[in-house]
Amino acid sequence: MGRIDGSEPTTMAAFFDEYVRHVFPERRAQARAEWPWPGDEWADERLREATWLRIAGTGEPSRWTEIVEFGPGAGKYTAMALARTPAQVTAYEISSAFIEILEQRFAAEVSQGRLGIRKIDWADNEGLLRDYDCRIGSADVCFAIDVLMMMDFQSALVYLISAAAMLRRGGRFVATFADGGTVSGLDRMLRDVGRHSAFDAAPCTRFHWIDAPILSAILPRLGFGNLVIEHGPEGGLDIARLYLQAELVDPEAAARARRCLLPVGDSTNRRASDAVGR
Ligand SMILES: C[S@@+](CC[C@H](N)C(=O)[O-])C[C@H]1O[C@@H](n2cnc3c(N)ncnc32)[C@H](O)[C@@H]1O
Repeated sequence: MGRIDGSEPTTMAAFFDEYVRHVFPERRAQARAEWPWPGDEWADERLREATWLRIAGTGEPSRWTEIVEFGPGAGKYTAMALARTPAQVTAYEISSAFIEILEQRFAAEVSQGRLGIRKIDWADNEGLLRDYDCRIGSADVCFAIDVLMMMDFQSALVYLISAAAMLRRGGRFVATFADGGTVSGLDRMLRDVGRHSAFDAAPCTRFHWIDAPILSAILPRLGFGNLVIEHGPEGGLDIARLYLQAELVDPEAAARARRCLLPVGDSTNRRASDAVGR
């Protein structure tokens, strides 16, 4: 499932199954690290705690009764939610491999009814709310950490909208997005050009929404200057257009940027050897 010709995963779920079953064990062995769970390599203690502070906010976690998590992976934040609140946690995941790990790691909490692990279909826009059904409007918190950054914003809206429906009045939604407004985000954007054809072979015809700050920040890195970025005239087509006019002012930067086009060639997140510098 999830492969056209046996080479690369073609669905998000297959991508993560492969990561859990093959890529992570290799990475752990190479790094000689003692990461007990896949995904431990993505965040150290400091980052986990900083993230929890955002999830908790100024709320009162000790009074929460219901938490929803999208994309728990192996459950690093699920574990915090279970340990630091008395709430019942519902975790929605697409990857069978991650679900197997969650079931193993949190067997006690599952049998006590504290944790519900639910498999969802990425392509089913209403799947979350159909599953949450009679609890709609009751969650204290809904969070998605490092999940929505892996989909276009149009798709992320499905999760934002579902979260809004799941939450009670005053409930919190906490999520991370891929940040195109930072230097490290721009570095990663260029570094990942090589992954262009590595995962999703099917063209996507949805609009991928962006805004002027991202263009103004990234285009100079590709050699362009004298940018004119205009929000297009309204009316006519039901398309809001961002008009860009740019000049190539730095051919050296353009030449450097070409190196980003080298395909990385697999589904892992390997760093291109010579990504464009700042
Ligand atoms: C980068 S991992 C992050 C996992 C975990 N939140 C963490 O920070 O360790 C992304 C996770 O989201 C899951 N995922 C991706 N798309 C999803 C979706 N549409 N709905 C639910 N889970 C999804 C993946 O299977 C994976 O477990």
